[in-house]
Amino acid sequence: EAPALFAGKKIMITAGPTREALDPVRYISNHSSGKMGYAIAEAARKMGAHVTLVSGPVNISAPPNVELISVTSAQEMHDAVMRDIQQQDIFIACAAVADFRLADIPTHKVKKKDGILTLSFEPNPDILQAVAAQARPPFTLGFAAETNDIEAYAKSKLERKKLNMIAANDVSLSGLGFNSDRNALTVITKNSKISLPATSKYRLAIELLKLLNSEYSASQNN
Ligand code: PMT
Repeated sequence: EAPALFAGKKIMITAGPTREALDPVRYISNHSSGKMGYAIAEAARKMGAHVTLVSGPVNISAPPNVELISVTSAQEMHDAVMRDIQQQDIFIACAAVADFRLADIPTHKVKKKDGILTLSFEPNPDILQAVAAQARPPFTLGFAAETNDIEAYAKSKLERKKLNMIAANDVSLSGLGFNSDRNALTVITKNSKISLPATSKYRLAIELLKLLNSEYSASQNN
């Protein structure tokens, strides 16, 4: 079920949410559980790869024989990825990274007061885009979590971020995507589009990695 397609290859995977501090006791985040990224890490390991899993805060444990780097914020995830990216053959961005962070994080707990509280946010670095923009980038697979116009948005992310592949994830479907045990994906490259139907995240990860391997092998032969 898990052919050793990645023997001798190094694959880095981001997974889970990031947390952006609002003050020393509060944060904003999202519903990513890490299950999809961890399933890809497990499948990649079973398929023979050396796997580095850069993970935001999640409640699941890392698969065996995977190198786990735990981070909290998007900036920390960015720094951990960039530190080791030159060594990687393949980069898979499955994390749900916060696009913004608070511009000035108060050093003390914010006190309750009457009226409206207004916060200012500044952009976080785009980790996937930074990886793909390197002089000699690894082979890149991004994800696109969308609720509408899924394929169009995914295709524009593929082009704008200069990726090899993107996995479009319709996160409006109940029972799939964020936090569930099952998922479905549409995998898009410059000139192909393949639908992987709903199944367990682990089985989906195996199918996704088989597709990735054929694109990756083709790219190495050019
Ligand atoms: O963790 P689970 O509960 O199992 O759920 C899985 C999932 C729904 C989170 C996953 O399948 C998924 O779709 N992950 C991508 C979520 C996302 O944030 O997508 P995006 O469209 O906002 O980002 C596009 C791509 O850029 C993603 O590969 C993302 O990792 C990357 N990105 C985004 C922003 C940023 N600052 N840095 C990034 O690297």
